[in-house]
Order: sequence, then structure tokens, then C-alpha cells
Amino acid sequence: MSKRALVTGGAGFLGSHLCDSLLADGWNVVAVDNLLTGKRSNLAHLRNEPRFELVEKDICEPFDVGRVDYVFHLASPASPVDYATYGVETLKVGSLGTFHALDHARAYGAKYFISSTSECYGDPLEHPQKETYWGNVNPIGPRSVYDEAKRFSEAVTMAYRRYYKVDTRIVRIFNTYGPRMQLNDGRVVPNFMKQAIRGEDLTVYGDGSQTRSFCYVSDEVDGFMRLAKSDEPLPVNIGNPNEFTILECAKAVLKVVDSTSGIRYDPLPQDDPKQRRPDISKARQLLGWEPKIDLETGLRLSLDYFRKAVAEEVAAAH
Ligand SMILES: NC(=O)c1ccc[n+]([C@@H]2O[C@H](COP(=O)([O-])OP(=O)(O)OC[C@H]3O[C@@H](n4cnc5c(N)ncnc54)[C@H](O)[C@@H]3O)[C@@H](O)[C@H]2O)c1
Repeated sequence: MSKRALVTGGAGFLGSHLCDSLLADGWNVVAVDNLLTGKRSNLAHLRNEPRFELVEKDICEPFDVGRVDYVFHLASPASPVDYATYGVETLKVGSLGTFHALDHARAYGAKYFISSTSECYGDPLEHPQKETYWGNVNPIGPRSVYDEAKRFSEAVTMAYRRYYKVDTRIVRIFNTYGPRMQLNDGRVVPNFMKQAIRGEDLTVYGDGSQTRSFCYVSDEVDGFMRLAKSDEPLPVNIGNPNEFTILECAKAVLKVVDSTSGIRYDPLPQDDPKQRRPDISKARQLLGWEPKIDLETGLRLSLDYFRKAVAEEVAAAH
């Protein structure tokens, strides 16, 4: 019988790329998504793929899509704009949705993989962040709907492992970018790409000295696949350790887009982490994984997608 995987959040940015990788790896794939922040168009290229199906469903309600061998639980608003807009939905999908995804894995004896986040480390007091760091999270701040949902979902995952013997994996994802990201999701790369393509000034919050590490989507998903095939039960950071200031990122975008836009400085939002960089020694050692695509190359690989997305937005406005 062929292997069958369930991907919650399969119509999203990372979920849709994961569906592609699983299909390329010989799996049959069922994506479950309520299209809260995802889009059918992210899966349009799979329209005639007989090994793929999309089920439109909210996983905060119990669900059953039949026998699967692996559950990949990615459903959750992920960008700061989305989880600020859908705060309660974010908490629900991180809690109720995680229970339902785990129950599905348990019912069919399937393995289970959850996408957690570097946000579990909050505004970290340790640099770079190792998986053993417990984090510095404000439990009642504006970002807590996301950070605490994800910390809770890690806890539920470990509980199902300990109490119900579900075979689990946890990935802590650091900023990832690439084609199929939403244009207006408030994350650094789409913000800058959109502004540069439109010839507008790039908005930098604070003085732009805060750092981020940016991982190209094909590297990230390669890390998922390796972790899924490994036996590691504890969280593994998957992200690019090359740290850039936000200002350096803005300049890289201006170069790749070949734009003459300037830079505008706005006040820093509350709880914005000053520094975020993965320690990927564990992924290197355990999975033989490290990112291959540098920032400029990744931005070039994403340019056509962002140009098209900006053109579609302009056309829709007229
Ligand atoms: N992109 C990143 O840089 C990043 C960083 C850290 C963690 N992550 C995690 O990776 C996962 C995917 O993120 P993404 O960037 O692809 O975001 P995304 O918003 O593009 O995708 C999330 C998907 O989940 C779906 N969804 C949300 N609530 C749902 C529900 N109740 N029922 C069914 N589907 C639901 C959305 O419609 C969307 O298709 C998330 O769990 C996120 O927390 C992403």
C-alpha cells in the first residue's frame, strides 16, 4: 500500500512546499486547510495530480481523513499581521487543532511532525539559540497568542509521546521566505520586496540594527524531510544561521530588485525581538543538514513570484 501523509495547513506557504516535497518523495498527500491565511492558488499546480487532495476543513473541529502514515501539523496563522488579526483562532488551532492532529495520528498509528517556531525563545537572552534554551516569553504581550500557542502545542506533543506513545518530531522554524508567501503578511522579506518593486521607500522599524536570519524555503523543507525521517523526538532548530541586520536585508532587496527606493524609519513595535539566530549544530550533526541558499540567491529565486504578486494586486485594485 502506498504511503499516505496528512498535511494540516497544506494550502499555506510552507505547507504547500511540503506537499510538493512529499509528492516528489513518492507519498500520497491529503492537505487539510480552512484557507484562513492560505490560498487554493498555492496548490493550483497540483490540480491534476491524482496522488493529491485538498480537504477544506477547520481542524479546531474533530476530523478524520482516513488512514495516514504520517501527520504533518503545520496549520496556524504564522505572520505577525495574521496572528494579530486572528489572535483567538491562533490560540485555538495551537491547542484544539493540535489535539485533533495528534488524535488523528494516534487513531491510525501514524508518525507525527509539528511545526513549532523560534518564537518559543521569545526575546532571547542567549545567542545563538540552542534547543536547550527555555526562552524569554512575555505570556500576556501582543505576541503571546502565537508564542504561547506554540509552546503549548510542543507540550501537548510531548504529552502524547509520553502518555500515548505517539512517535513525534518537533521542528523549530526560524524566519523562512520564498515564493507563495503572502505579499501583505507583515514579514520582512515580502514587505521589502513589495515596497522595492513598487518603487516605495522600504520601512525599517527602529534603527534597523536588530538582526534576523533568513532561510530559503527549499532549505527549510529539506530540513523537515530529514527530521521526519530521523528518530529524534526532541525539538530541532531548522533555520539559516547567517545573521543580517534588517538594514542589510533592506539593502540586499534593493540590489536584487534593482530599485532606487529609499529607506524610512518607523518606531519599533512592542516585544520585537532584538536578535534571533539559530544554533544549528544539532541539525548538522543529527540530520547532516545545513542551508545551501544564501540571502541574495534566495531573493533572486523569489523575485518573479513577488513581481507577479505585486502586479496582481495592482490589477485587482483597478
Ligand atoms: N514561515 C515562517 O517563517 C515560519 C516560522 C516559524 C514557524 N512557522 C510555522 O510553520 C507553519 C506554517 O507557516 P506558514 O508560514 O506556511 O503560514 P501560512 O499562514 O502560509 O500557513 C498556515 C496555514 O494554516 C491554515 N490554517 C490556519 N488555521 C487553520 C485551521 N484552524 N484549520 C485548518 N487550517 C488552518 C491556513 O489557512 C494556512 O493555509 C505554522 O505552524 C507556523 O507557525 C513558520
